[in-house]
Amino acid sequence: MQLLSKLAVGITQAINRCGFPNKDLEGQIRQVADAKFGDYQFNGAMGLAKELGLPPREVAVRIAEHLSLPDILATVEVAGPGFLNLRLRNDWLSSQLQTMGASDCLGVGRANPPLTYVIDFSSPNVAKPMHVGHLRSTIIGDSIARVLRFLGHKVITDNHLGDWGTQFGIILHGFKNQLNQENFAKDPVGELARLYVEVRKQFKTEESEDQTTDPVQEACRNETAKLHHGDEENRRLWQQFMPLCLKEIQKVYDRLDIHFDHTHGESHYQPFLHGVVESLEKQGLAVETDGAMGVFLKEGQPPALVRKRDGAFTYMTTDLATIQSRVQENDPAHILYVVDSRQAFHFQQLFEIARTWLKPKAQLHHVSFGSVLGPDRRPIKTRSGDAVASLDQLLDEATRLAREVNQSNSQPDGSSGEAPEEDAAGDAEVIGIGAVKYADLSQNRTSDYVFNWEKMVAMDGNTATYMQYAYARNRSIFRKGGIDMEKFRIDLRSISLETAEERQLGMQLFRFLEAVQHAGVDYRPNVLTSYLWDLAKAYSIFFQNCPVLKAESEALKMSRLGLCDLTARVLKTTLDLLGIRVLEKM
Ligand code: ARG
Repeated sequence: MQLLSKLAVGITQAINRCGFPNKDLEGQIRQVADAKFGDYQFNGAMGLAKELGLPPREVAVRIAEHLSLPDILATVEVAGPGFLNLRLRNDWLSSQLQTMGASDCLGVGRANPPLTYVIDFSSPNVAKPMHVGHLRSTIIGDSIARVLRFLGHKVITDNHLGDWGTQFGIILHGFKNQLNQENFAKDPVGELARLYVEVRKQFKTEESEDQTTDPVQEACRNETAKLHHGDEENRRLWQQFMPLCLKEIQKVYDRLDIHFDHTHGESHYQPFLHGVVESLEKQGLAVETDGAMGVFLKEGQPPALVRKRDGAFTYMTTDLATIQSRVQENDPAHILYVVDSRQAFHFQQLFEIARTWLKPKAQLHHVSFGSVLGPDRRPIKTRSGDAVASLDQLLDEATRLAREVNQSNSQPDGSSGEAPEEDAAGDAEVIGIGAVKYADLSQNRTSDYVFNWEKMVAMDGNTATYMQYAYARNRSIFRKGGIDMEKFRIDLRSISLETAEERQLGMQLFRFLEAVQHAGVDYRPNVLTSYLWDLAKAYSIFFQNCPVLKAESEALKMSRLGLCDLTARVLKTTLDLLGIRVLEKM
């Protein structure tokens, strides 16, 4: 059983022994940030006192007197108006660290029962190159998938490509009327992207669905409709464009080290759309409205259209077909949509319709996030001030910056003292892309954030670069000490937590499990970056105060090396859960 559950059981027993009413303790036992006060705190005595009409401190004192977890707790103290501060025994903590060290997954057990999650993320519209706006869904989704898998769940990732929408009508129109053959032969996707931009420029109004009288927009819409109705030429062109577009976005996924179980784009669901509308109609959910078919949800709100007047199906219809197929094929407990917050209304309507229509067992979640902004809340620029057009370009710039940082760091006066590995280009990519991912994942995902090149690769802040550096420096201790890692990890010795710094580091390592679980429950990778930041601080204080290779005795040296090694493994694993790689030397 995990610590928090054990503490909850112990406290519940104490409450019973006092003759107080039974309480649900969920969320009332928390970590204490300042080690001065203990390791965990129970704050439920105050609520109980109110219920009983007793002074809160008295209730807290009585619970403390009856609390008996002698193997785990060293002290129980009443503080403030009625908090219970709990301190773990050093020998108990030390034995937990040993168990953690002996386990491949650092003591994180498999979820019981494991649940099936379908995660829909990245999902760009493919007729144009991936841009900065696709960054967040891609890396947040990937990290959530990694965390849930690590916890032992069954995760199915699906890149729900926008490969069937109006943007194909736009490039089809451009292709037929304004193609530059030579460009297309040289750089097909570049030419398609150019056509997309060119045609869009000719629109008189903002793309406002079906009511427009703008001839260019009308022509594009026609091309889309022809594609959807099986027009031979448009189908052929679509089939010609798709592999080119996919190859282009795959380059970005390769750089980001991101993989999907499925890449069922919107086009995959075309054969089912008729059936969806029919079924919705049969259930009385979809009704005719102004020549179209729509689902009326709330009084006074426009209906969610599932078939337009011209017979075209919508984003909503496709998403409904997608849910139906996911439910039938995967029987998931949860379906997550990692999509930016501007689509909140779409998902609200989608979920409402799907729940009534399919009554799925699956819970549907919109894991939403804010935008990435440049300084001045304008689009992101390179450091020299040019606009960043594509995601690929952004990653290039980050890698360039990383190369500078890594080079300055390996100068004779740099603090690493070790030359970076031979493969400097690959290293710069690991550092640069790690920096981009970490800068994003460390934000509370629901807020917008401002992209900052310099801060992103800082060596002394909450950045991937700092974590990667802490890892590499840690590894260098073992190289310097001439330690055979394989042998070292087999004969794990007990870890001494005598000094305050050792204990604080040990405690922080022990909290790895809680951090991963918390991140998995809330779908929040920033829980992991906050955890890493606390861990890195504890490690740095330990390292400054506790000699490792020069420890007073061989036993102490081995114990401290044990702490270092566990730190390295937790750093590496947590970074991996964020989709970030490490370097053995930096
Ligand atoms: N392709 C959409 C866009 O770029 C995002 C799709 C999100 N997933 C979904 N099932 N609707 O806005």
